[in-house]
Amino acid sequence: MKYTDESLNNKKILITGGAGFIGSNLAMYFQKFHPNAEVIVFDSFRSEKTFSNGNFKSLGHFKNLLDFNGEVIVGDITNKDDLARIDKIKFDYIFHEAAISDTTVIDQDAILRANVNAYKDLLEMSLRHGAKMIYASSAGTYGNTQAPNIVGQGEIPENVYGFSKLCMDKLTYKFLKENPEHIVGLRYFNVYGENELYKGKTASMILQLGIQALKNKKVRLFKMGEQKRDFVYVQDVVMANIKAISGKSGVYNVGSGESRSFNDIVKCLQNEFGEFEVEYFDNPYKFFQNHTHADIEPTKEALGYNPRYKLEDGIKEYAKSIKEIADKGEF
Ligand SMILES: NC(=O)c1ccc[n+]([C@@H]2O[C@H](COP(=O)([O-])OP(=O)(O)OC[C@H]3O[C@@H](n4cnc5c(N)ncnc54)[C@H](O)[C@@H]3O)[C@@H](O)[C@H]2O)c1
Repeated sequence: MKYTDESLNNKKILITGGAGFIGSNLAMYFQKFHPNAEVIVFDSFRSEKTFSNGNFKSLGHFKNLLDFNGEVIVGDITNKDDLARIDKIKFDYIFHEAAISDTTVIDQDAILRANVNAYKDLLEMSLRHGAKMIYASSAGTYGNTQAPNIVGQGEIPENVYGFSKLCMDKLTYKFLKENPEHIVGLRYFNVYGENELYKGKTASMILQLGIQALKNKKVRLFKMGEQKRDFVYVQDVVMANIKAISGKSGVYNVGSGESRSFNDIVKCLQNEFGEFEVEYFDNPYKFFQNHTHADIEPTKEALGYNPRYKLEDGIKEYAKSIKEIADKGEF
């Protein structure tokens, strides 16, 4: 069925990871623009458990859902009993955002269980329900191969997180052979925007640098700040998910389509918050992606995706929230 504003009326939508950064933005989008759709958030929420890198094992937070009126189910996608609970509900669409999203986690077993095994279970569930599966993949699948990043080329992840997302994409292609209308994978690039506060140290560089600038009048960057990334505003990522509802099955890049440097972020933040100092230091991460740039032509063609935010526009819109976070001393 072709997607129209009305076609989501009375549809049941599952958002796994809906208490996280991107999932909660998606949940609130549906609530605002599709009030007659029934949205159910499934998330393990933040517990006090941490990985060996000191970061929380799951980053969902109830405060991302304070204004959400739909049903919230707490559960773990790696737990069969928890999955059985949502399997009883018949969904029309599954937006699968739940994952270990922290790219610095080195526990391979934990990442692959949460990101790959659980995806397969959810894919099988989506088939039972006749639900379309729209899931989060990542630019991490490209590792440090040459930009521009093109789906199907240069997919050599540098860390187990990127590997897990590539496994999800390969599983997708396998399932699509039998179910050609069924799945859209979205390889998000570097996403930034509202509701990422609870990602802590794994939040975007835009939030981290913005807070440093406001708090210390100085930011710290890896030498010499000219590494380039494709930064994409969360509202464009939400839109890609919406477009995927009626879009053609497959795996697609979701970026701004532009590659911008960390020094560019500094300039944008200085436009919003005034001048501040920049200190450069050595990058400790061997697997750091030095240049990403999403080829979004196939995404435009197959999904009708058209990003609306350049880095300047996204940071301008986000600046107010960054300032509020800094003022409250929350970060
Ligand atoms: N933010 C980015 O820049 C970016 C880039 C590429 C891909 N992604 C992917 O997009 C998706 C959403 O990312 P995000 O930035 O919103 O991260 P996030 O960590 O804020 O959201 C993930 C959510 O999944 C939940 N979760 C984790 N493990 C779970 C489990 N076992 N069972 C149930 N829930 C669980 C967390 O509590 C959290 O709410 C993830 O799949 C991530 O890998 C994000």
